[in-house]
Amino acid sequence: MSGFIFDLDGVLVDTAKFHFEAWRELARDLGFDMDETFNETLKGVSRMESLEKILQKGNIDASSDQKLSWAEQKNQNYLARVQKMTKADVLPGVLAFLEKSKQLKIPMAVGSASKNAVAILTLTEIKDYFQVIIDGNQISKGKPDPEVFLLAAKTLQLSPALCVVFEDAEAGIEAALAAGMYAVGVGDLEKADEMISGFEGQDPEQFILDPL
Ligand code: G6P
Ligand code: MG
Repeated sequence: MSGFIFDLDGVLVDTAKFHFEAWRELARDLGFDMDETFNETLKGVSRMESLEKILQKGNIDASSDQKLSWAEQKNQNYLARVQKMTKADVLPGVLAFLEKSKQLKIPMAVGSASKNAVAILTLTEIKDYFQVIIDGNQISKGKPDPEVFLLAAKTLQLSPALCVVFEDAEAGIEAALAAGMYAVGVGDLEKADEMISGFEGQDPEQFILDPL
């Protein structure tokens, strides 16, 4: 049986915009700006690695303590935005896709770099669809390393070759491919095995892989 592994931010829920807004505010506080093109390079990337990329862009050097404090500042800003989320922030077509996948008894996991994953899944009321949630608290290497997806497959007790990953970030597609999984890009992700623009009108049965 195939299993589905979903990235969280930008795939299941519309949080990618909140990450962008919160990072942009920090960048502006530090005296420079960042646009959406640069933001694409932060998608799927852990909090501290994202901060490193932003500081590099702004040519800013800082102590580890200062970096931790900026990361915390961004996270508090992000959480203030996220607190207002409800089921309405689940991306279009996702609820129907999860419901049909559940009826088909497809094992499902979340594989996210975010340390806020469980809180967001709870606020948006979709947590119970997933048998396994692997997030930034359980992994030591971020995407594009395959660790998050391999751990999700192992916990689902599925071989990687039977896992389908849904991802909106280039780093996430690279991680899925490195894990030996089938990568579905949500958005314009040329390295993916297949691309979809979103879940509206998608039938989970189309993504079930045939066992070898
Ligand atoms: C996801 C998002 C990234 C974010 C990362 C860590 O992968 O796409 O933009 O930086 O999670 O999120 P966190 O909620 O732990 O700061
Ligand atoms: Mg994402």
